[in-house]
Amino acid sequence: MKRALFVLAAVLLSFAVAAPAFARGAGEKEGGIKIGLSFAEFEVERWAREKDKMIALALEAGASGVVCQVANNDANLQNSQIENMVAEGVKAIIIVAVDGQAAGTAVDAASRSGVACIAYDRLIKSSNLAAYITFDNIEVGRQEALGVLDGVKKGNFALLGGSPTDNNAYLVRKGQMLVLQPLIDNGDITIVGDQFVDGWSQEKALTIVENMLTANQNRIDAVVASNDSTGLGAVGALAAQGLARKVPVSGQDCTAAACAAIAEGTFTVSVFKDINLLAPKAVEIALALAQGKPLQGMSSRSLAFLSPLRNARDRLLKP
Ligand code: BGC
Repeated sequence: MKRALFVLAAVLLSFAVAAPAFARGAGEKEGGIKIGLSFAEFEVERWAREKDKMIALALEAGASGVVCQVANNDANLQNSQIENMVAEGVKAIIIVAVDGQAAGTAVDAASRSGVACIAYDRLIKSSNLAAYITFDNIEVGRQEALGVLDGVKKGNFALLGGSPTDNNAYLVRKGQMLVLQPLIDNGDITIVGDQFVDGWSQEKALTIVENMLTANQNRIDAVVASNDSTGLGAVGALAAQGLARKVPVSGQDCTAAACAAIAEGTFTVSVFKDINLLAPKAVEIALALAQGKPLQGMSSRSLAFLSPLRNARDRLLKP
């Protein structure tokens, strides 16, 4: 069986949508600083943890309140939720976009109303974005591919990309191909299936890999999946064909389920990204921008990529 591998890649519940969660600061006063949190979904484990952390940190740092909404992967709903937050008087919004293109419309409108928007983890394509903070997603993809190659170096590989509306899906794929392309070119690896998975859905990934297995008479030697949910979907399809533990599978996030699967031997590599570094930075940026304060170490248009594994200097725009 392939060696279980955790890779450290970064320093750096779905609930009803109707009513926004609103957390009040202990000393809420009229006219205090309110910020907004707009999440794409809470299906993937990390996001609810980041929500809790950000709310706690913002209140601790003196915010008078935090308005939080989740869009259940619906880009139109997310835009109207952002619009409502602006109407409620938030001064900055941290956004995990469902669709990096579509969210640009809401960001443009919010910024016309003087509200600073911070793209969190996922890029939003708007020149009115106040800040973008993320991990080194290309490095994540590279580590995923390297982790799979630790198990199998040649043969038929299947690729599972992330959500086509999430820019991270393309960055992660770019990193994977940096590792895989030379091996494809020299004939060691043949790509026998390649699909991006709507909403990074585990269920959809399972169906996709089932179809890939059928199309290839089960001859798939490795699955380079882009995160833990898509990877675990692949494990489900492989297990049904008696191939779990035989085929290396990758992911990222180190979710509890993926870590359990690594311990069990059905999952090969999950790339760890420490949200304890990303979430506090985002709150710090949001509160500074909400109060019109300069950002420490970067301008309000800086892009921050946080990564310990390699020097991301070439991708870090200094003030
Ligand atoms: C994040 C991943 C996450 C995925 C699905 C991506 O944008 O970078 O950490 O697994 O979204 O939520």
